[in-house]
Amino acid sequence: MANGILKGKRGIIFGALDSKSIAWKVAEAAYAEGAEIVLTNAPIALRMGTINELAEKIGAKVIPADATSMDDLKALYEGAIDHLGGKIDFVLHSIGMSVNVRKGKKYYEQNYDWTMKGYDVSALSFHKTMQAAWELDALNKWGSVIGLSYIAAQRVFHTYNDMADNKAMLESIARSFGYHYGLRKKVRVNTISQSPTDTTAGSGVAGFDGFYRFANDLSPLGNATSEECADYCISLFSNYTRKVTMQNLFHDGGFSFTGMSETAMNTYLKMMDDEKK
Ligand SMILES: NC(=O)c1ccc[n+]([C@@H]2O[C@H](COP(=O)([O-])OP(=O)(O)OC[C@H]3O[C@@H](n4cnc5c(N)ncnc54)[C@H](O)[C@@H]3O)[C@@H](O)[C@H]2O)c1
Repeated sequence: MANGILKGKRGIIFGALDSKSIAWKVAEAAYAEGAEIVLTNAPIALRMGTINELAEKIGAKVIPADATSMDDLKALYEGAIDHLGGKIDFVLHSIGMSVNVRKGKKYYEQNYDWTMKGYDVSALSFHKTMQAAWELDALNKWGSVIGLSYIAAQRVFHTYNDMADNKAMLESIARSFGYHYGLRKKVRVNTISQSPTDTTAGSGVAGFDGFYRFANDLSPLGNATSEECADYCISLFSNYTRKVTMQNLFHDGGFSFTGMSETAMNTYLKMMDDEKK
Protein backbone atom coordinates (compact mmCIF):
# COMPACT_ATOMS: atom_id res chain seq x y z
CA MET A 1 0.00 0.00 0.00
CA ALA A 2 3.03 2.28 -0.31
CA ASN A 3 2.31 5.70 -1.81
CA GLY A 4 5.71 7.34 -1.62
CA ILE A 5 4.55 9.78 1.07
CA LEU A 6 8.01 9.88 2.68
CA LYS A 7 9.89 10.34 -0.58
CA GLY A 8 12.87 12.67 -0.05
CA LYS A 9 12.72 12.41 3.75
CA ARG A 10 15.59 11.28 5.96
CA GLY A 11 14.95 9.43 9.22
CA ILE A 12 16.66 7.87 12.23
CA ILE A 13 15.02 4.80 13.73
CA PHE A 14 15.99 3.63 17.22
CA GLY A 15 15.14 0.22 18.66
CA ALA A 16 15.01 -2.47 15.95
CA LEU A 17 16.32 -5.51 17.85
CA ASP A 18 14.78 -8.34 15.79
CA SER A 19 11.99 -8.86 13.29
CA LYS A 20 9.34 -8.69 16.04
CA SER A 21 10.40 -5.17 17.11
CA ILE A 22 7.93 -2.39 16.35
CA ALA A 23 10.89 -0.30 15.11
CA TRP A 24 11.71 -3.02 12.56
CA LYS A 25 8.22 -2.72 11.03
CA VAL A 26 8.45 1.08 11.04
CA ALA A 27 11.80 0.94 9.23
CA GLU A 28 10.39 -1.40 6.58
CA ALA A 29 7.30 0.78 6.09
CA ALA A 30 9.31 4.04 5.96
CA TYR A 31 11.64 2.52 3.38
CA ALA A 32 8.65 1.34 1.32
CA GLU A 33 7.30 4.92 1.44
CA GLY A 34 10.52 6.26 -0.05
CA ALA A 35 12.45 7.45 3.04
CA GLU A 36 16.19 7.06 3.52
CA ILE A 37 17.02 5.72 6.94
CA VAL A 38 19.79 5.30 9.46
CA LEU A 39 19.18 2.53 11.99
CA THR A 40 20.55 2.65 15.50
CA ASN A 41 20.57 0.59 18.68
CA ALA A 42 22.68 0.12 21.80
CA PRO A 43 26.02 -1.58 21.05
CA ILE A 44 25.03 -4.69 23.05
CA ALA A 45 21.75 -5.01 21.12
CA LEU A 46 23.70 -4.91 17.86
CA ARG A 47 25.58 -7.97 19.03
CA MET A 48 22.53 -9.85 20.37
CA GLY A 49 19.91 -8.92 17.76
CA THR A 50 19.58 -9.23 14.00
CA ILE A 51 19.54 -5.55 12.96
CA ASN A 52 22.10 -6.14 10.20
CA GLU A 53 19.58 -8.31 8.33
CA LEU A 54 17.17 -5.38 8.30
CA ALA A 55 19.91 -2.94 7.31
CA GLU A 56 20.78 -5.10 4.33
CA LYS A 57 17.15 -5.49 3.30
CA ILE A 58 16.44 -1.75 3.25
CA GLY A 59 19.93 -0.51 2.34
CA ALA A 60 20.36 1.37 5.61
CA LYS A 61 23.50 2.26 7.52
CA VAL A 62 23.66 1.18 11.17
CA ILE A 63 25.24 3.60 13.64
CA PRO A 64 25.50 2.25 17.21
CA ALA A 65 24.40 4.56 20.03
CA ASP A 66 23.49 4.06 23.66
CA ALA A 67 20.49 6.39 23.91
CA THR A 68 21.48 7.37 27.46
CA SER A 69 24.77 8.87 26.23
CA MET A 70 24.75 12.42 24.86
CA ASP A 71 28.14 11.79 23.23
CA ASP A 72 26.79 8.73 21.39
CA LEU A 73 23.64 10.59 20.35
CA LYS A 74 25.56 13.55 18.96
CA ALA A 75 27.90 11.24 17.04
CA LEU A 76 24.80 9.46 15.71
CA TYR A 77 23.23 12.67 14.37
CA GLU A 78 26.52 13.82 12.86
CA GLY A 79 27.05 10.42 11.23
CA ALA A 80 23.47 10.24 9.95
CA ILE A 81 23.53 13.76 8.47
CA ASP A 82 26.83 13.01 6.80
CA HIS A 83 25.63 9.66 5.43
CA LEU A 84 22.16 10.79 4.34
CA GLY A 85 23.40 14.08 2.90
CA GLY A 86 21.30 16.52 4.92
CA LYS A 87 19.34 17.25 8.09
CA ILE A 88 16.89 14.73 9.53
CA ASP A 89 13.11 14.84 8.95
CA PHE A 90 11.90 12.19 11.39
CA VAL A 91 13.03 10.25 14.45
CA LEU A 92 11.44 7.16 16.02
CA HIS A 93 12.34 6.53 19.67
CA SER A 94 11.30 2.89 20.21
CA ILE A 95 13.19 2.10 23.41
CA GLY A 96 12.15 0.61 26.72
CA MET A 97 13.73 -1.42 29.49
CA SER A 98 13.17 -1.92 33.22
CA VAL A 99 15.75 -3.77 35.28
CA ASN A 100 13.17 -4.24 38.05
CA VAL A 101 10.82 -5.96 35.56
CA ARG A 102 13.65 -8.08 34.18
CA LYS A 103 14.75 -9.22 37.63
CA GLY A 104 11.22 -9.84 38.93
CA LYS A 105 11.21 -7.08 41.58
CA LYS A 106 7.71 -5.93 42.47
CA TYR A 107 6.62 -2.27 42.30
CA TYR A 108 6.75 -1.96 46.10
CA GLU A 109 10.23 -3.50 46.48
CA GLN A 110 12.20 -1.66 43.80
CA ASN A 111 15.96 -1.52 43.72
CA TYR A 112 16.35 2.23 43.13
CA ASP A 113 19.63 1.90 41.23
CA TRP A 114 17.73 -0.28 38.77
CA THR A 115 14.81 2.16 38.80
CA MET A 116 17.15 5.01 37.81
CA LYS A 117 18.69 2.89 35.05
CA GLY A 118 15.27 2.05 33.64
CA TYR A 119 14.20 5.69 33.86
CA ASP A 120 17.32 6.80 32.01
CA VAL A 121 16.85 4.21 29.23
CA SER A 122 13.06 4.40 28.88
CA ALA A 123 12.19 8.06 29.50
CA LEU A 124 15.15 10.42 29.90
CA SER A 125 16.69 9.06 26.69
CA PHE A 126 13.71 10.59 24.84
CA HIS A 127 14.71 14.01 26.19
CA LYS A 128 18.37 13.35 25.40
CA THR A 129 17.45 12.27 21.85
CA MET A 130 15.81 15.65 21.31
CA GLN A 131 18.33 17.77 23.21
CA ALA A 132 21.21 16.27 21.22
CA ALA A 133 19.35 17.07 17.98
CA TRP A 134 18.52 20.57 19.27
CA GLU A 135 22.13 21.36 20.15
CA LEU A 136 23.30 20.30 16.69
CA ASP A 137 20.27 21.82 14.93
CA ALA A 138 19.98 18.39 13.32
CA LEU A 139 16.25 18.37 12.48
CA ASN A 140 14.58 20.03 9.51
CA LYS A 141 11.65 22.44 9.89
CA TRP A 142 8.38 20.43 10.08
CA GLY A 143 10.37 17.43 11.33
CA SER A 144 8.54 14.79 13.37
CA VAL A 145 9.67 12.95 16.51
CA ILE A 146 7.72 9.97 17.89
CA GLY A 147 8.12 8.02 21.14
CA LEU A 148 6.22 4.79 21.86
CA SER A 149 4.12 4.58 25.02
CA TYR A 150 1.62 2.35 26.78
CA ILE A 151 -1.66 3.05 28.58
CA ALA A 152 -0.08 2.08 31.92
CA ALA A 153 0.94 5.77 31.93
CA GLN A 154 -2.71 6.58 32.76
CA ARG A 155 -4.11 3.42 34.34
CA VAL A 156 -2.70 0.70 36.58
CA PHE A 157 -1.63 -2.56 34.97
CA HIS A 158 -0.47 -4.40 38.04
CA THR A 159 2.75 -6.01 36.71
CA TYR A 160 3.88 -3.14 34.46
CA ASN A 161 5.85 -1.92 37.47
CA ASP A 162 8.17 1.12 37.20
CA MET A 163 7.69 1.14 33.41
CA ALA A 164 4.31 2.82 34.11
CA ASP A 165 6.11 5.76 35.72
CA ASN A 166 8.63 5.83 32.87
CA LYS A 167 5.83 5.99 30.29
CA ALA A 168 4.09 8.81 32.19
CA MET A 169 7.39 10.72 32.09
CA LEU A 170 7.90 9.90 28.40
CA GLU A 171 4.50 11.39 27.56
CA SER A 172 5.24 14.46 29.66
CA ILE A 173 8.57 14.97 27.87
CA ALA A 174 6.74 14.82 24.52
CA ARG A 175 4.44 17.65 25.65
CA SER A 176 7.16 19.84 27.15
CA PHE A 177 9.79 19.38 24.42
CA GLY A 178 7.02 19.55 21.82
CA TYR A 179 6.21 23.07 23.00
CA HIS A 180 9.79 24.36 22.75
CA TYR A 181 10.61 22.48 19.53
CA GLY A 182 7.36 23.63 17.96
CA LEU A 183 7.76 27.27 18.89
CA ARG A 184 11.41 27.64 17.97
CA LYS A 185 12.00 25.14 15.14
CA LYS A 186 8.55 24.03 13.91
CA VAL A 187 9.29 20.42 14.86
CA ARG A 188 6.42 18.23 16.17
CA VAL A 189 6.73 15.72 18.99
CA ASN A 190 4.16 13.03 19.87
CA THR A 191 3.86 9.70 21.63
CA ILE A 192 1.84 6.75 20.31
CA SER A 193 0.22 4.60 22.98
CA GLN A 194 0.25 1.17 21.39
CA SER A 195 -1.74 -2.03 22.14
CA PRO A 196 0.11 -4.93 23.80
CA THR A 197 2.35 -6.35 21.07
CA ASP A 198 4.30 -9.61 21.05
CA THR A 199 7.92 -8.38 21.08
CA THR A 200 10.96 -8.96 23.31
CA ALA A 201 10.11 -5.93 25.49
CA GLY A 202 6.35 -6.65 25.49
CA SER A 203 6.52 -10.30 26.38
CA GLY A 204 8.97 -9.50 29.20
CA VAL A 205 6.08 -8.09 31.27
CA ALA A 206 4.65 -10.74 33.62
CA GLY A 207 1.23 -11.97 32.45
CA PHE A 208 1.70 -10.57 28.93
CA ASP A 209 -0.58 -13.19 27.34
CA GLY A 210 -3.40 -12.23 29.71
CA PHE A 211 -2.95 -8.50 29.01
CA TYR A 212 -2.94 -9.21 25.29
CA ARG A 213 -6.13 -11.29 25.38
CA PHE A 214 -7.93 -8.91 27.74
CA ALA A 215 -7.08 -5.86 25.57
CA ASN A 216 -8.13 -7.72 22.43
CA ASP A 217 -11.45 -8.76 24.00
CA LEU A 218 -12.17 -5.22 25.18
CA SER A 219 -11.18 -3.34 22.01
CA PRO A 220 -13.98 -3.00 19.42
CA LEU A 221 -11.38 -3.11 16.63
CA GLY A 222 -9.11 -5.65 18.33
CA ASN A 223 -5.47 -5.05 19.27
CA ALA A 224 -3.35 -3.00 16.89
CA THR A 225 -0.47 -5.00 15.38
CA SER A 226 3.10 -3.77 15.01
CA GLU A 227 2.54 -3.39 11.24
CA GLU A 228 -0.48 -1.17 11.95
CA CYS A 229 1.59 0.81 14.44
CA ALA A 230 4.16 1.30 11.67
CA ASP A 231 1.44 2.66 9.35
CA TYR A 232 0.38 5.14 12.03
CA CYS A 233 4.01 6.25 12.51
CA ILE A 234 4.31 6.82 8.75
CA SER A 235 1.27 9.10 8.81
CA LEU A 236 2.86 11.11 11.63
CA PHE A 237 6.18 11.39 9.78
CA SER A 238 4.40 12.56 6.64
CA ASN A 239 3.37 16.06 5.60
CA TYR A 240 -0.30 15.17 6.22
CA THR A 241 0.03 15.68 9.99
CA ARG A 242 2.13 18.84 10.21
CA LYS A 243 0.06 20.49 12.95
CA VAL A 244 -0.26 17.43 15.21
CA THR A 245 2.07 17.90 18.16
CA MET A 246 2.41 17.46 21.96
CA GLN A 247 -0.16 14.62 21.86
CA ASN A 248 -0.33 11.16 23.31
CA LEU A 249 -2.18 9.31 20.54
CA PHE A 250 -3.91 6.05 21.42
CA HIS A 251 -3.39 3.37 18.80
CA ASP A 252 -5.22 0.53 20.48
CA GLY A 253 -8.39 -0.45 18.59
CA GLY A 254 -10.53 1.59 21.02
CA PHE A 255 -9.29 -0.08 24.24
CA SER A 256 -8.55 3.20 26.02
CA PHE A 257 -12.18 4.38 25.89
CA THR A 258 -13.98 1.07 26.43
CA GLY A 259 -15.22 0.21 29.92
CA MET A 260 -16.87 -3.13 29.12
CA SER A 261 -17.38 -5.10 25.93
CA GLU A 262 -19.75 -7.89 24.87
CA THR A 263 -16.90 -10.41 24.75
CA ALA A 264 -15.54 -9.49 28.19
CA MET A 265 -19.05 -9.49 29.71
CA ASN A 266 -19.84 -12.89 28.20
CA THR A 267 -16.59 -14.26 29.67
CA TYR A 268 -17.63 -13.06 33.14
CA LEU A 269 -21.21 -14.33 32.79
CA LYS A 270 -19.93 -17.76 31.75
CA MET A 271 -17.51 -17.81 34.68
CA MET A 272 -20.37 -16.97 37.08
CA ASP A 273 -22.55 -19.70 35.55
CA ASP A 274 -19.71 -22.19 35.99
CA GLU A 275 -19.30 -21.16 39.64
CA LYS A 276 -22.99 -21.92 40.28
CA LYS A 277 -22.61 -25.49 38.95
N1 LIG B 1 5.41 -4.57 22.95
C1 LIG B 1 4.42 -3.95 23.57
O1 LIG B 1 3.46 -4.56 24.07
C2 LIG B 1 4.43 -2.44 23.63
C3 LIG B 1 3.24 -1.76 23.87
C4 LIG B 1 3.28 -0.35 23.96
C5 LIG B 1 4.49 0.31 23.83
N2 LIG B 1 5.64 -0.40 23.59
C6 LIG B 1 6.91 0.33 23.48
O2 LIG B 1 7.43 0.17 22.19
C7 LIG B 1 8.83 0.43 22.24
C8 LIG B 1 9.57 -0.64 21.46
O3 LIG B 1 9.49 -1.88 22.11
P1 LIG B 1 9.19 -3.26 21.37
O4 LIG B 1 7.92 -3.77 21.93
O5 LIG B 1 9.33 -3.12 19.91
O6 LIG B 1 10.34 -4.21 21.97
P2 LIG B 1 11.88 -4.45 21.56
O7 LIG B 1 12.44 -5.21 22.70
O8 LIG B 1 11.97 -5.06 20.23
O9 LIG B 1 12.51 -2.97 21.51
C9 LIG B 1 13.08 -2.32 22.63
C10 LIG B 1 14.38 -1.71 22.13
O10 LIG B 1 15.00 -0.85 23.11
C11 LIG B 1 16.41 -0.94 22.84
N3 LIG B 1 17.22 -0.37 23.90
C12 LIG B 1 17.29 -0.80 25.19
N4 LIG B 1 18.21 -0.06 25.87
C13 LIG B 1 18.72 0.84 24.98
C14 LIG B 1 19.69 1.86 25.07
N5 LIG B 1 20.35 2.11 26.21
N6 LIG B 1 19.98 2.60 23.97
C15 LIG B 1 19.35 2.35 22.79
N7 LIG B 1 18.39 1.40 22.65
C16 LIG B 1 18.10 0.65 23.73
C17 LIG B 1 16.59 -2.45 22.70
O11 LIG B 1 17.85 -2.81 22.20
C18 LIG B 1 15.44 -2.80 21.79
O12 LIG B 1 15.82 -2.70 20.44
C19 LIG B 1 9.21 0.52 23.72
O13 LIG B 1 9.24 1.87 24.12
C20 LIG B 1 8.03 -0.18 24.38
O14 LIG B 1 7.85 0.19 25.72
C21 LIG B 1 5.64 -1.76 23.47
